[in-house]
Amino acid sequence: MLFSATRTVLLLTAAFLTPVYSAPMDLASRGSKASSTSHSGDGTFYQPGLGACGTDNTSHDLIVAVSHTLFDSYPGANPSNPNKNPICGKKLRATYGAKSVIVAVKDRCIGCATGDLDFTSTGFGKLASLDKGRIHGVKWQWV
Ligand SMILES: *[C@@H]1O[C@H](CO)[C@@H](O)[C@H](O)[C@H]1NC(C)=O
Repeated sequence: MLFSATRTVLLLTAAFLTPVYSAPMDLASRGSKASSTSHSGDGTFYQPGLGACGTDNTSHDLIVAVSHTLFDSYPGANPSNPNKNPICGKKLRATYGAKSVIVAVKDRCIGCATGDLDFTSTGFGKLASLDKGRIHGVKWQWV
């Protein structure tokens, strides 16, 4: 089983130092009824590798890292093994202006606010020019 040691250490450190479960729950991710709820946040991109979900992805993959807040509070999340978080593999459609992209959750973003999405360069490039680096007002929902 692939396992992201670095991210796990960070996760466990965070769990030890701060009560992870006191983080605000993302209500929209709790049940299927709310799955069409629109989230929003900033969009950025990063160079993926072995992610919190245990897969080794590349900048060509349409994967995304969601905020640590959302990742850790997702129903069924187990801090001792992020690879088994039920959020892993879930797909979402992100929209920015007239453009949209569907990406699969494969990683956990420590620097992200709750609704932010950290894309691969390929995913980000479907929404905006990479020159922008960070885009505001990305809307997204689970698909
Ligand atoms: C992520 O990486 C895994 C394993 O390397 C691969 O099977 C999967 O297709 C990739 N996901 C996407 C969305 O490209």
